[in-house]
Amino acid sequence: MTEEERAWLAGEGGPGLRKAMEIVVALGRIYGAADTVAVSSVQVAGVSYKNLGDAGLDFLREWAAQGARSRVPAFLNPAGMDLRDWQRLGIAESFARRQLEVIDALTAMGAAPVCSCTPYLIGTRPAPGEHLAWSESSAVSYANSVLGARTNREGGPGALATAITGRTARYGLHLPENRRANVLVEVRCPVRSEADFGALGYLVGRQVGQAIPYFRGLELEMSDGGIPPSADALLRALGAAMAASGAVALYHVEGVTPEARAEDMLGADVQRVVIDSLAAGYVALNTTPLDGIDLVSIGCPHASADEVRMIAEQVSGRRLAAKLWVTTARATKERVPDAVATIEAAGGLVVADTCLVVAPIEELGIRRLATNSAKAAFYAPGHSHVEVRFGPLAQCLEAALTGRWPGKGA
Ligand code: F3S
Repeated sequence: MTEEERAWLAGEGGPGLRKAMEIVVALGRIYGAADTVAVSSVQVAGVSYKNLGDAGLDFLREWAAQGARSRVPAFLNPAGMDLRDWQRLGIAESFARRQLEVIDALTAMGAAPVCSCTPYLIGTRPAPGEHLAWSESSAVSYANSVLGARTNREGGPGALATAITGRTARYGLHLPENRRANVLVEVRCPVRSEADFGALGYLVGRQVGQAIPYFRGLELEMSDGGIPPSADALLRALGAAMAASGAVALYHVEGVTPEARAEDMLGADVQRVVIDSLAAGYVALNTTPLDGIDLVSIGCPHASADEVRMIAEQVSGRRLAAKLWVTTARATKERVPDAVATIEAAGGLVVADTCLVVAPIEELGIRRLATNSAKAAFYAPGHSHVEVRFGPLAQCLEAALTGRWPGKGA
């Protein structure tokens, strides 16, 4: 430890800083870290009152009252509701009041209430090799894999402790030697839409757990004539799903991601996974029949400005039969006012600050959900007690327009 860190542990700087340093040191001991490393930003998950409850709120309030303040840029993951338009979503006032108290406690500690899992789309795009302490699993996956930055998958208190100290224990993915791929994933079937990438991520995450997969044979070109997502959106879908069904915090795609090294896959002892069909992924992620869709949810991870525009083009001038939520960062929503107006004129909602998994949707009468996100399809049945229809964006939007899943389903 540095002199400064020892002083913080001894209480110089107040009880809030001491508690934060104690957490950083405890995590370092558990994981065998030799020292700490300064981080350039922190992303704090565990923001929704649905998950925190009163015990979590009291913990945050107490820490804030102890004078804990962030010394590096820190920003929040989605909360349990749109912080401004919660009444429009039908959120109960008692929930809203508690959620706003959570936000107050966290902002008192200096965390910016951007409430998004895609900070890299709204102005925080770390450089390769930059050390971070991010906690939402899809954001961690994207930062490590697509951007080449370095972060472990932090828990909520660990991330806050790092925000307050500016330092994290140097272990795991902060060390270059731990960032090499150790499972070769050979993809031998077409993978086209964002839903396909999600289904693939679901299958791989389930098989590899915490390993670091190296994808071979994965094309990032759209070729099925559907609504074309960007390569970036496909990688977000893939990473989010692997982080959900497994605990994959870093992956490599041959010829695409910055740290993909084919030489790591040469040894005879390299574990191999072959994916020659996505069907098992679709079967596992679909739990509901074709009709009676209550809510179509797009934007897990949070939608980009291009995705919001693309959805607006598809629903322009039409009238939706089911509820449609497009969840995104507030900063993204504010960048595309015309697209927002078009979606809302069709009867949909562009919802900021929250998402379907962390919002209390079971209390809003939602029973059957359609989504193009494998991560949302994976979590929603357990977290929100809903049935799920999972498939590409074009089918989801058709379901929003008709209230019924199109075709034969997956
Ligand atoms: Fe983001 Fe919520 Fe999905 S935090 S990755 S939109 S579950």
